[in-house]
Amino acid sequence: MNSKPLNIKIKRPEPPESDDNVIQITKKSDRAKAARQLSAGNYLLVEDRYSTGMAVLSDLKKLVFRGKNKQDFTAYRDKRSEFYQASNRLLVPVKDNTIALKKSPEIGWLNLLYPDLQDFLLTFPQIQGLNSSWQWYLKGIKYPGLKEKIHPYYGTYFPTRFDHLHLFDNWLKKFNGPKNLAIDIGTGCGVLAFQMLNRGFEKVIASDINPNSILSVREHAQKIGVSDRVHTFQSDLFEKHDQKTDLVVFNPPWLPAQKEIEGLDNAIYYESGLFERFFEKAADYIHDKGKLVLLFSNLAESQGVTGQHPVKEELANHSRYRQTRLLKRKVKQSSKKTKRRDHRKNEFVELWELEPK
Ligand SMILES: C[S@@+](CC[C@H](N)C(=O)[O-])C[C@H]1O[C@@H](n2cnc3c(N)ncnc32)[C@H](O)[C@@H]1O
Repeated sequence: MNSKPLNIKIKRPEPPESDDNVIQITKKSDRAKAARQLSAGNYLLVEDRYSTGMAVLSDLKKLVFRGKNKQDFTAYRDKRSEFYQASNRLLVPVKDNTIALKKSPEIGWLNLLYPDLQDFLLTFPQIQGLNSSWQWYLKGIKYPGLKEKIHPYYGTYFPTRFDHLHLFDNWLKKFNGPKNLAIDIGTGCGVLAFQMLNRGFEKVIASDINPNSILSVREHAQKIGVSDRVHTFQSDLFEKHDQKTDLVVFNPPWLPAQKEIEGLDNAIYYESGLFERFFEKAADYIHDKGKLVLLFSNLAESQGVTGQHPVKEELANHSRYRQTRLLKRKVKQSSKKTKRRDHRKNEFVELWELEPK
């Protein structure tokens, strides 16, 4: 099914447009001053070691988050955004597809994603993102219901919490409807699509607006020998689809976007209108006896971000679908040792099973 060549443009972090007045820094520079310069809007270029950049970022973090309470979800998010802006003015030199600083990590993505560039700059957070992604890619993740680890390609959303995956896999075990074809909208690293194959679906369509996700799913399908059962599409919701299926699955972003979103934020935050567009079309892609499954969470409600719940709103305001089941599972709290913020205390994930009317 996937033998046709990929006609998509893979996303990568692009070298920033810094101004000409870049300030060069080494481990001898005054770190606190460097942090203030970043915060004031200056671009800084690390000249000697990777650790110099790490040290300046640590000072910048202290400067930006000084006196802020981590329990305040909204205020903390604003500070994170301020830190993100300032830290993206800290630059790293890349030469011959490696970081040109002493004691830097080796990042395979610099080879794979930049064959056209020799000598360029990336920002420290871009490099950190590439590094973290490379580590996940090398290591892979073992998901509930799957035998093989998934190795997500750069820039692809992959879950690091598994509650919704357990919920879906348990639902799949009991699903006794037809299993000829399913479609996974917003497939990310393809985990739900591969779960469906594993639970007996003959073929799945894995679709995402993000091109990197398509490459990721293709690579995994090829690796585990199921390319003929996985059809990938880069598509905004149902835009590129024309087939009816036995099951439409969507694990959408769970939080409403407060500003314009791009890149991987598309996996976390939804723009207004996304659910209206989804529900308007989904029924056209479901066979008579088919189902629609939406995975969701009360995260936005429990944090007071919004009282709105897109699935409840659809059911209350339209008569396009009837609810046939609702499963819930309490989210496992993070271990105390990880010192994570305790936003998840009252969070649960939900599986909404609907049928078109
Ligand atoms: C929360 S992630 C879910 C990923 C995966 N299905 C899972 O369960 O882990 C949401 C996914 O939806 C994709 N997405 C967001 N907006 C989309 C749209 N308009 N059309 C298609 N996919 C979209 C994102 O790129 C992301 O991969």
